Amino acid sequence: MRIAATQKLPGPAWDELPGVELLETWPPSEPVPGVETLVAVAAQVGPEELELLPDLRLVANYGVGYDTIDVAACHSRGVAVTNTPGVLDAAVADLTLALILACRRHLVASDRFVREGLWQRGWARPELLGRDLAGSTLGLIGMGRIGTEVAHRAEAFGMQIVVSRRSGGVPLDELLQTADVVSLHVPLTPETHGLISGERLGLLRDGTTLVNTARGAVVDEDALVEELMSGRISAGLDVFVDEPHVPERLLGLPNVVLTAHIASATVETRAAMTRVLVDNVLAYLEGEPLPNEVSA
Ligand code: 8YV
Repeated sequence: MRIAATQKLPGPAWDELPGVELLETWPPSEPVPGVETLVAVAAQVGPEELELLPDLRLVANYGVGYDTIDVAACHSRGVAVTNTPGVLDAAVADLTLALILACRRHLVASDRFVREGLWQRGWARPELLGRDLAGSTLGLIGMGRIGTEVAHRAEAFGMQIVVSRRSGGVPLDELLQTADVVSLHVPLTPETHGLISGERLGLLRDGTTLVNTARGAVVDEDALVEELMSGRISAGLDVFVDEPHVPERLLGLPNVVLTAHIASATVETRAAMTRVLVDNVLAYLEGEPLPNEVSA
């Protein structure tokens, strides 16, 4: 029962896995027969990668979002897929609020202002005047576990919450036209790919902040770059279409805060994700039902 991993995971649960082989590259440069379990960390797994692991039976994905895994291709070869839901909701919600605050209160621009010695030239500069969270409207797109945690936090800041979700809430276009801050909490699926199109970005009012801790491809990234270049809106972005590549035109903009897909990146949460992943692998090894099997 060989186990291979694209990367070692943090936290004590990792040591419970028997004899994990760390792959030097992903995908491997040549076929690796005999590996039954793959621990996949931000790794693309599709038909070509599956060819390279001919004996694979389980892909254990480190993350709740499994858009990098071609689940249908896995299933057609008898390969099960698991993910790590539930344990990262608070950490992702925290980073969402951090990005909202960073954008609305010009946190990064203000830090730069201090470091560059510009503070000496004047206090309360207009470009550092932010917007109150209290009394503003947060539009949540998606209201699963993470969206719900974001709503709790935002309510504590005095924000009004409006929600657009597959099963109801306000129509998406109406939410985009009315919210002061829009935050995305949907998985990346064929249905949500490009959901926030250029046309929809155009519905945002001047001064709106868009926050994305979900997946880059939920938004038309080129159109978003154009909107940000115009200075009409601001954005807090933790995810991008082609990570780790960030559109170069964003790098010099004051109205965007960029983070490196760190929403779940805390010591506690990453250890908890490892725990969930390891429990799935151990269940597989013991022939028990997989606690977090992905169905489609
Ligand atoms: C991970 C994530 O950092 O859970 C997710 O869906 O995006 C993050 O928690 C990512 O999956 C890398 O493993």
